[in-house]
Amino acid sequence: MAKSSTFTCTACGAVHKKWAGRCDACGAWNTIVEEAPLSAGSKSLGAARGRQVPLTDLATEEPPPPRTTSGLEELDRVLGGGLVPASAILVGGDPGIGKSTLLLQAAASFARAGLKCLYISGEEASAQVRMRAQRLGLVDAPVQLGAETNLRDILTTLDTERPALAIIDSIQTMWADHVESAPGSVAQVRQAAHELVTFAKRRGVSVIIVGHVTKEGQIAGPRVVEHMVDTVLYFEGERGHQFRILRAVKNRFGPADEIGVFEMTGGGLAQVTNPSALFLSERDQPSAGSVVFAGIEGTRPVLVEFQALVAPSPLGTPRRTVVGWDGGRLAMILAVLESRCGIPFAGLDVYLNVAGGLRINEPAADLAVAAALLSAREDVALPADTVVFGEISLSGALRPVGQTENRLKEAQKLGFTQAIVPGRSKTGGGEGLTIREMTDLTTFVGDMFGA
Ligand code: TYD
Ligand code: MG
Repeated sequence: MAKSSTFTCTACGAVHKKWAGRCDACGAWNTIVEEAPLSAGSKSLGAARGRQVPLTDLATEEPPPPRTTSGLEELDRVLGGGLVPASAILVGGDPGIGKSTLLLQAAASFARAGLKCLYISGEEASAQVRMRAQRLGLVDAPVQLGAETNLRDILTTLDTERPALAIIDSIQTMWADHVESAPGSVAQVRQAAHELVTFAKRRGVSVIIVGHVTKEGQIAGPRVVEHMVDTVLYFEGERGHQFRILRAVKNRFGPADEIGVFEMTGGGLAQVTNPSALFLSERDQPSAGSVVFAGIEGTRPVLVEFQALVAPSPLGTPRRTVVGWDGGRLAMILAVLESRCGIPFAGLDVYLNVAGGLRINEPAADLAVAAALLSAREDVALPADTVVFGEISLSGALRPVGQTENRLKEAQKLGFTQAIVPGRSKTGGGEGLTIREMTDLTTFVGDMFGA
C-alpha cells in the first residue's frame, strides 16, 4: 500500500493525519504543511552489523571525555562546563537577536583554546563574516570560514577538513539535493540536521546548529530538530534591551535551565558575570509594587526585581497582564490572597513584570509576587534592602524552597540586609542578614502591610 503523505507543524514538529488551520499541539495558526512520504526502502532485515556490549563491560574506569572550555564562561557554563567532543548543539533564537555574533565569538574563543573550528554561513558571504569578525576584533583568530548551503558539499568539506567543531549558520538555509522541497521546509531542515548530527557522532566532530525561531508557517523552526541533538540552547532577549540570555532547555551533558547572560554592545556580546547587579542596577529608591526576589537560575543565584501595578479597572473583566512570569500562577496567587487573606482584586487591573527581560519559572517566586501585588495595591513600599522568596500553597501556607543558603549568600553579597523567607527554611549562610521567617501568607500580610 502506498504510504500517504503526512502533515507536520513547522512550529513544533507535531505530525497530523490531515491538514488543519491550527495545530492542536502548540496552538499556532497556519503552520501545518504537507510532507511527502519517505521513499519506502527495502523491508527485509539487514545483516546484523550493530555491535552490542554488556553494560557491565562499560563500568571500567574510562574517564569522561575531556571538555574544551572556550574561556567565555557564560557559554561554557550553559554547555555544562565546556564543549563535549562529538556533541550536537542547537542554538535557537529570533532573527537578529545575535546568534551569528555569539557563535562567531564562540568559534574564535574555541579556536584560540586550540580547537580546529569551521564556521559555515549559509546567510552571509565569507567576506561579510570577515567584516563582522573585524568589528568584533576577532580577525586574528584561527577560524576557517565557509559560505555553503549544499549539505553534500558541507559534509565533504567536514570530511576532508576534519575540524573539531563545525558551526552551521543557519539550518534553514541548508538543503540536501536528494530531498525534493525548498530549503527551510520541514523535510529539508530535518534531513539536513539528521545528516549533520549523524556525521558528527560518527566522525567525532562537534556541531553547533543555528536555527531561527520563525513566526510564519513556510519555514520550519528549531523545535523540529530539538529531539535530534544533545543540547538545546535558546538565545533570548527583549527588543530594546541590551541583555541577552542564553538558556539551556535540554542538555544531555549538564544541567538544563542553566543561563548565561550577555550584553549586546557596539563591539559584540560582552559577558555579564554578575547578573544580579545588572538586573537590579535600574532600581533606585524603594517604591510601591517593587520587590526583589532571590532566585536560582540553573546553578547560579540571581536577584531580580518583580514590579506590579494595581489600578482600578474600567473593564467588566479586569486585565491581568504578565511579562516574565506564568499567567496561571499569577491567577493562583490572586485567588489565594482573596480566599485566604480576604484581599480582593476584583475590579482592579493587575500588571506584573520581571525587570530586565528575564523569565522566571520557579514557584519560589510566589511570595515575591504576592508581596509585589500587595505593595502595589496598598501603595506601601517594602523596606529597602529586603529580599523575598518562598512558595505559596493553596492553603496559604508558605513552603521552604531549595537552595535557601545560596539565595541568602547572594543577597548578602549584594548588600541586602533583610530576607523574608518561609518558616522552617534552612537559613545557614545568611549570617549578617536579618531573617524573618513567616509560616503563612496571612501572617506575612499582617506583618508587612498591617492588612
Ligand atoms: P546577528 O548576530 O546577526 O543576529 P542573528 O544571527 O541572530 O540573526 O545580530 C544582529 C544584531 O546585532 C544587529 O541588530 C546588530 C547587532 N550587533 C551589535 O549591536 N553589535 C555588534 O557588534 C554586532 C556584530 C551586531
Ligand atoms: Mg545570523
